[in-house]
Amino acid sequence: MNTINTQPSAAPVIQALRSIGYNSQTAIADIVDNSIDAKTSYVHIQFEYDMGNGFIRIEDNGIGMTETELQKAMTIGSKDPRDQRDKEELGRFGMGLKTASFSMGKRLCVITKKDGKLSERCWDLDYVSGKNEWLLYKSIPIEIRDKIGQPEGKSGTIVLIDKLDRFCGFGTHKVLKQESYYSKVRRIQRYLEMVFHVKLENGLIITINGNTLYPWNPFLEGNPRRIEGEEQLIKVNKKLVRITPYVLPHPSTFNQVDYKYAGGVKGWNDQQGFYIYRANRMVSFGDWFGMFPKDAASQLVRIKIEFTNDADDDWKIDVKKSTITIPEDAKQDLYGVAKYYRKVSQEIMLYRTKATRTGGRIKGSLNTWELATDDVNSSYVLNRTHPILNEILKDVDTDIRRKINLYLKLVELGSPNNLLKTSNMAKKAEQQIDEKSKKLVIDYAEILFSTGFELDIEKVAETISIMAGFEGIEISTIKTILEKEVNFNVSSNT
Ligand SMILES: Nc1ncnc2c1ncn2[C@@H]1O[C@H](COP(=O)(O)OP(=O)(O)OP(=O)(O)O)[C@@H](O)[C@H]1O
Ligand SMILES: [Mg+2]
Repeated sequence: MNTINTQPSAAPVIQALRSIGYNSQTAIADIVDNSIDAKTSYVHIQFEYDMGNGFIRIEDNGIGMTETELQKAMTIGSKDPRDQRDKEELGRFGMGLKTASFSMGKRLCVITKKDGKLSERCWDLDYVSGKNEWLLYKSIPIEIRDKIGQPEGKSGTIVLIDKLDRFCGFGTHKVLKQESYYSKVRRIQRYLEMVFHVKLENGLIITINGNTLYPWNPFLEGNPRRIEGEEQLIKVNKKLVRITPYVLPHPSTFNQVDYKYAGGVKGWNDQQGFYIYRANRMVSFGDWFGMFPKDAASQLVRIKIEFTNDADDDWKIDVKKSTITIPEDAKQDLYGVAKYYRKVSQEIMLYRTKATRTGGRIKGSLNTWELATDDVNSSYVLNRTHPILNEILKDVDTDIRRKINLYLKLVELGSPNNLLKTSNMAKKAEQQIDEKSKKLVIDYAEILFSTGFELDIEKVAETISIMAGFEGIEISTIKTILEKEVNFNVSSNT
């Protein structure tokens, strides 16, 4: 015999397992996956703060486990990732329950019911580390009993994680404040509403502290203005992958609330890209995987890609179910689809005229809007050489021409896309106005002064402060900029 049985030592392995890169959102989602695999109809999640001494409790009414099944479930590496799984199954590695829980806290208690029989187990990492052995408690500590309760119906499972050192600083000097704790919970809610939106749309109920989660559909299901592109089926290593492209409506067609909601967790620009689903559960979102930049003109494109869990190897799904790699065989197809729909988005964002759509190659001179890009920024400008505009300007006298040009400049500065960018910047920077916003204020003011109307600084500052996109800047700040920077005798800057 040339081998020697070498058990990993418990304490260091635990530390490694705790650090495989979950965040609180991916960790909770991984535990919810288990409830879904257990065919639950609801998942009730409770986050208790208790000055950092609280717990996270996740309850389902799924099929539950027998004692033998629970013992296996609590084992690190309880299943072989190479085993074939049920088509709909979200689990793969036999790790999630333990690794996700340990990434948040040091104690994991599970009580489960199957065929009317209760079983329970508990991992306490302080104990395991102290003994440096994988010693699993057969019963739940007395102080947890009331908190965990027991599954009410015929079957179900309750997972309770406490000693939340990583989640909220339990036992450390940096205990999360209550307010930050609950804003973390809100972010988890939004994440779950996104990654499980298909499940929620299909009737699964998830609640957090009594609030019911609503599905967040990235493709704005039900919005009559969105474009649903042609569905494509491709084969990757003999397994089918479905690609469905969507182009959202122009941002200006939304009211403020709907606009913000449609922007999802990362906001419009960052949410563009591929949305990858494995067995109807989103595993990756808003990412071009390095194929394209996330430019403003392409922000309307969201492309749904669906693969099945028998293709896990091809997509290199990780334990956390949150990162994947696009298989080489799929790259070319995805690139082609994305390139085409990015162009559609660019056309919508640029308000291209109908005439330009017909002649195959789009002639630049017929576009009403064009994208002006320097090394850092991009913004939309009106095409001042458009033949119709040329025609109009040719027939009018200098004064009217000057006024039309002034008006066009205002339209340009006020284009929804240019303003949306400014508004974000203004809010972020609060009263520390960044150079770009400042320049826009100055441009506006110079144009307003040059109209020849009787205007003073007060009036101009007020006009600018109520314009969309500048709400974040106080009048006094605008006035200071005007006093310092604007030349009141300007005539026309067009
Ligand atoms: N809520 C639950 N209800 C019933 N069975 C469960 C539940 N949670 C876990 N299990 C059982 O425990 C096993 C281990 O779960 P765990 O999350 O560690 O691994 P997995 O789901 O098999 O794979 P992955 O590591 O990919 O999540 C599951 O395969 C399942 O059999
Ligand atoms: Mg799992």
